[in-house]
Amino acid sequence: MRLTPDEEALLAGEGGEGTRRAMQIVVTLGRIYDAERVLPVESVQVAGVSYRNVGEAGLAFLREWATQGARVTVPATLNPAGMDMHDWRRMGISPEFARLQEETVRAYTDMGVSATCTCTPYLVGNVPSFGAHLAWSESSAVCYANSVLGARTNREGGPGALAAAICGRTAAYGLHLDAGRVPTHRVRVRCAARTPDDYGALGYWVGRWVGGGVPYIEGLDLPPVGATTPLAASGDEADAGDALKLLGAALASSGAVALYHIHGVTPEARALPDLCPSDLPVMDVHDLGPARAALNSDAGVIDLVVLGCPHASLAELRRIADGVRGRRLRSAFWVTTSRPVREAAEREGLVAAVEEAGGLVIADSCVVIAPMSELPYRTVATNSAKMATYALGHAGLRARFGSLEQCLEAAASGRWRL
Ligand code: F3S
Repeated sequence: MRLTPDEEALLAGEGGEGTRRAMQIVVTLGRIYDAERVLPVESVQVAGVSYRNVGEAGLAFLREWATQGARVTVPATLNPAGMDMHDWRRMGISPEFARLQEETVRAYTDMGVSATCTCTPYLVGNVPSFGAHLAWSESSAVCYANSVLGARTNREGGPGALAAAICGRTAAYGLHLDAGRVPTHRVRVRCAARTPDDYGALGYWVGRWVGGGVPYIEGLDLPPVGATTPLAASGDEADAGDALKLLGAALASSGAVALYHIHGVTPEARALPDLCPSDLPVMDVHDLGPARAALNSDAGVIDLVVLGCPHASLAELRRIADGVRGRRLRSAFWVTTSRPVREAAEREGLVAAVEEAGGLVIADSCVVIAPMSELPYRTVATNSAKMATYALGHAGLRARFGSLEQCLEAAASGRWRL
């Protein structure tokens, strides 16, 4: 691997032990993946924040790195934590878990990482520019950054992303290179995909087929996307952004997709009309029913309804608040989002509408990485294919997947109706 004199100096420890260690990690990853050089990154998004996942060993690793003087040199944000960092008691989190979670976040902030605790950094100001090189780790955010915004990031592990934030560089391989961004599979959607949960079901189905490939999807009726999907966005742009957020999250959870292209919609597919090779394996999707069936267990009684995976946008919170206003919910009802979106929703009276109905608008956190085994929920309903996949596969929950309207009905009645 070719390094500049400045990079060689960092690797030799001239920037201090914390930076030397970061550079060592980036260079080692580059050697593993045959990178020829490292690249400066515009921003970093770090996963591995919930104490449930990090554990004592991970916390000790972070503390040690911080005491070695490691400090981030580019804007860096955090993925969700295992609890709402302000209102953890409302989730039923134990004081002991809360203490350890706070220490974990503090270890990151000691190194200069911003405690945003969200999987949608692009909704709260961290909006990468087209072609920018990043080192992001949350799979759904990686998929969004690459596909919808046209930025370039591999799906980094937590330590790799933090190392990139500290030395400001990442290894040039995979999706940083043009060759890594060429479609590997062609998907022709032959059925209607209208609602956000349709996009989730489609993503789940396609992700199972393409694994870690790059699907080129045709047949979706969406406006062109790109540029920004800011906090205040509304109308068609926000609706398309929300649908693609759910599509990418699902592609990344049933498969390992980090980039997709949509004909006529996503920025690279628009910029390069001949982007898709003609000789790719083809999948025709005629029906989303099999995907929906695979995402559903037989749970009848619903303990908990979870919306906001990935973290809810303001437009989604408006729809959710409209759906529960004036109702009395029977099952627990959580909407997860980022803190800035929660604050904006509070100013519009949306949080009050959800909470007067008996629900919670939870910032900073996510059900998949919260200590759910300590909480009294065994069945969950959601409109997110990613949440349903992880609830069924990892969190030990039985899941129901459907539309926002079905989830609202389940919350009101406490039961899932087909
Ligand atoms: Fe975000 Fe958790 Fe879903 S990290 S994408 S809310 S599984």
